[in-house]
Amino acid sequence: MVEIQVRINGKVYQERVEPRKLLSDFLREDCGLTGTHVGCEHGVCGACTVLVNGSAVRSCLMFAVQAAGTEIMTVEGLANDQPHPLQEVFNECHALQCGFCTPGILMSSVEFLNSNSDPTTDKIKEMLSGHLCRCTGYKGIIEAIEKVANRQKDGEKVDGSGDTV
Ligand code: FES
Ligand code: FES
Repeated sequence: MVEIQVRINGKVYQERVEPRKLLSDFLREDCGLTGTHVGCEHGVCGACTVLVNGSAVRSCLMFAVQAAGTEIMTVEGLANDQPHPLQEVFNECHALQCGFCTPGILMSSVEFLNSNSDPTTDKIKEMLSGHLCRCTGYKGIIEAIEKVANRQKDGEKVDGSGDTV
């Protein structure tokens, strides 16, 4: 067992983990953060995506020990007192069906919008190509991300902390 310390959604976790434990399992089983979903467990579906030091990462492709000393954000960290703007528009645009793919898509979208201030629809589709939605509800998801991108263009910043600045 290896002792690791990691900051997740602003809270420090100090835990003993097996070196072979995946980050996705660590988040769900050791930290109780079950908003991170596990689908394929080999990097294809994107359901397990979280932000590690601000970058979107598939947590099923990383060992928990590799995350030692990093800053992680999971879907639980997106909302503050109010839902994150992306969560609001997913609701408005009917981008939620069963919701299984949603946490991963939200986390990738946060990183994407942070680095793309005025993305084209094609760029959004390209980003989404790393995610599988088994409900095939892509139309609403694309609309929702476009809507937040347009708001961002009009002056709001989606900074991944749950705040619009
Ligand atoms: S569970 Fe990680 S990419 Fe599918
Ligand atoms: S909403 Fe069901 S898998 Fe995407």
